[in-house]
Amino acid sequence: MTVVMLHRYSRCNHRAAAPGVANPSLVHILGYMVFCRAEYAGKTESRGMDLSYLEIKGGVPLCGEIEIQGSKNAVLPILAACMLGEGVCIIENCPFIGDVEDTLEIMKMLGCRAERDGRTVSIDASEVKAYEIGGTCAARIRSSVLFLGALLGRMKRAVIPLPGGCAIGARPVDLHLWALGCLGAEFTGRDRIIASAKRLHGSTVKLPLSSVGATENTILAAVQAEGDTLIENAAREPEVDELCEFLNQRGAEIARLEDNSICVRGGKRLKGVRYCMKADRIVTGSYLLAAAATGGRIRVRNDSCRNLQSLVRVLQQMGAEIDCRDGATVLSSDGRLFAVPYLATAPYPGFPTDLQSPMMAALCRAEGKSRICETVFENRFRTADELKKMGAKIEICGKCAVIDGVEKLRGALLAAPDLRGGAALVIAALQSQGCTTIRDMTYVDRGYESIERDMSLLGADIKRYR
Ligand code: UD1
Repeated sequence: MTVVMLHRYSRCNHRAAAPGVANPSLVHILGYMVFCRAEYAGKTESRGMDLSYLEIKGGVPLCGEIEIQGSKNAVLPILAACMLGEGVCIIENCPFIGDVEDTLEIMKMLGCRAERDGRTVSIDASEVKAYEIGGTCAARIRSSVLFLGALLGRMKRAVIPLPGGCAIGARPVDLHLWALGCLGAEFTGRDRIIASAKRLHGSTVKLPLSSVGATENTILAAVQAEGDTLIENAAREPEVDELCEFLNQRGAEIARLEDNSICVRGGKRLKGVRYCMKADRIVTGSYLLAAAATGGRIRVRNDSCRNLQSLVRVLQQMGAEIDCRDGATVLSSDGRLFAVPYLATAPYPGFPTDLQSPMMAALCRAEGKSRICETVFENRFRTADELKKMGAKIEICGKCAVIDGVEKLRGALLAAPDLRGGAALVIAALQSQGCTTIRDMTYVDRGYESIERDMSLLGADIKRYR
């Protein structure tokens, strides 16, 4: 396991301060929390005109072998971490996706030298003097908020716009600010986040909610702080451990403890490193679901199901056969899937919210009634409206969706509602009768290198028009 690869040592000598007591700028942040919650609710991405669309003729079982791209959710914090310390970082297997390109744009804006040679990206942050992020890129992607921790760590100051991302819920950043406040950061600003710290000091940060982004931001600032930091209730997602592994290879000392908290020894000197990104578990999961729904047989070469056990269990319950060995995953299905009586999304190791929409698409034709409850983001059922245009029977009741399996889905004119929702529509189209058109593919391109290339490789009849 990745966790085992991290150094393990006993709890660091952290201050025994409770969150909220250690933080001198708490009042400030509380005000900010209210503002962020109100201001951010309903904010959606602003993107240029997207004229590209996919055309998919459904009904072909997916068959063959595929290699999965590097992980989006791991590479974004790792790129932010390249801003810290000295030396050149070379990131291999860095996926060609919209969110990475936007992130590299932000880094260049800050003064980084960022060069791409195929899937290898080299980052030299030695000349970075700026700490203010402007422009539309940062406002577009959620992970731009990670530059808060990285810039505070490096420059003790940061100015960033309110982060964007998919409109899947309010997505406030209160926990990020609160956690960084525990390390000594203070915040001002109304329409953007203005952060500064006289000095960053280690602390105990007990997250009230195990937020992935807030955990990563705290790690990014804590590695440059004076003293040790203990992050309690830290997110357990494998992408957080990949960030720790990357920083440890650079010379940091970060460990995941038995109780899943994360201990960061501050002030270690960070050097350049060559690092190869692991496969994206959400892309893997999407493709396994597509194969199951079309009654195909695929072998995913560079990924084991180690980080996808929650999905593997559900796929087996649905009637697919799945075999994980020698670092590869083989799935086969006869296309007649069973419904899942109850499935709820949850933080890792629970069922990933990012696979909720793809799972909904795979269940549209399953025999019986399925019920999916979304517990992580409050607005992640917009895909259902598009699926209904294909003949799916889905009813949304608050946080839950009830899917009554139909015999057939038919081709339709659809629009991707968000990143994972767009991938879900591709899964639905692949198992439908007739031709489906999906527009607003820019959403999908933010996280999937080329979903049409991968599906074509597996035999699908799919074309992109621009
Ligand atoms: C990350 C992933 C995203 C995934 C999500 C949950 C990246 C780039 N994105 O997003 O793909 O869907 O984890 O696995 O890695 N929350 C607050 N206040 C905060 C922060 C979060 O209330 O300051 C809430 C959120 O609204 C949400 C929950 O906490 O309800 C989980 O969010 P979080 O784990 O922070 O997700 P992200 O880091 O945004």
